[in-house]
Amino acid sequence: MRDVAGKVAFITGGASGMGLAMARSFSRAGMKVVIADIEQSALDQVAEEFAASNAEHLTLKVDVTDRDAMEQAAAATIERFGKVHVLCNNAGVAVGGSIADMNYNDWDWVTRVNIDGVVNGVQTFLPRLTEHGEGGHVVNTASIAGHIAIPGLSVYTATKFAVVGLSETMRGDLTAHNVGVSVLCPGFVATNIFNSERNRPEDLPGSSTLQGMGGTEQQDEELALDPSLSNALDPDVVGDMVLHAIQEDEFYIFTHPEFSAAADLRSQEMGDAYARWQTYREERSI
Ligand SMILES: NC(=O)c1ccc[n+]([C@@H]2O[C@H](COP(=O)([O-])OP(=O)(O)OC[C@H]3O[C@@H](n4cnc5c(N)ncnc54)[C@H](O)[C@@H]3O)[C@@H](O)[C@H]2O)c1
Repeated sequence: MRDVAGKVAFITGGASGMGLAMARSFSRAGMKVVIADIEQSALDQVAEEFAASNAEHLTLKVDVTDRDAMEQAAAATIERFGKVHVLCNNAGVAVGGSIADMNYNDWDWVTRVNIDGVVNGVQTFLPRLTEHGEGGHVVNTASIAGHIAIPGLSVYTATKFAVVGLSETMRGDLTAHNVGVSVLCPGFVATNIFNSERNRPEDLPGSSTLQGMGGTEQQDEELALDPSLSNALDPDVVGDMVLHAIQEDEFYIFTHPEFSAAADLRSQEMGDAYARWQTYREERSI
């Protein structure tokens, strides 16, 4: 979608971090933005920021796990701007710690936001992206953890592999509908994700031994001191990358090329396993 000026984007998790950065980049490019988020106080601040720059925008309090709320948000978007062209399924949360320490609430919370939230976005908005015939684009936020399994992030990694798989399938399915697809796969970005617990529903408490992303208070402190985190990318850089991907119809958005070697290692390991199973079948004439 080369010509984005005047087009309408709906962004979930838009009041913080990379979602907010996308809203800023899109707005600078002349797009109208709908910023949806679960956190009212963050939405209020964002509304002030966008009103001050006269950007055409709408802020909506929406929980992506709530299908009725998503439907109402889509209706509000159409009522305000008439059409919607770009959907960014970006809202996400993370919980850290060993798989041995996860409870069902950890699984339910993270899978509902990170997988069901994307599903709800696709189901709710896809018909609206195609009905005007002007073309559209969907950006799903996964992670580098959607390509490389990261120890201590089992639940999160499972959800992000799911988002990559869904996105790869969607790309093929939606070509005929003139809807492009991108999957955003960042490494560390300086956002509030490491404080995801602020949005955990009260009825889904985590294991008492778990704190934030690090799993324990001590690990959280270590994470905060980790040089890879202090070198985390500025979310505004990612916002511009997402805009570029929409304009160039670029599928994978790999913000951190330094992870390519780890992805190669995974491919190599699978390649070696394919070869061993080939030998297994040959030895047994299967
Ligand atoms: N920051 C990183 O290093 C990093 C790396 C890879 C992927 N990601 C992914 O990027 C996306 C954006 O996260 P971020 O890093 O900007 O973090 P962030 O916490 O700054 O932003 C996430 C936003 O999602 C919102 N949100 C949480 N639960 C919600 C719900 N149920 N409904 C609606 N909104 C909800 C939060 O209020 C917040 O505004 C997430 O999907 C995350 O998994 C982040």
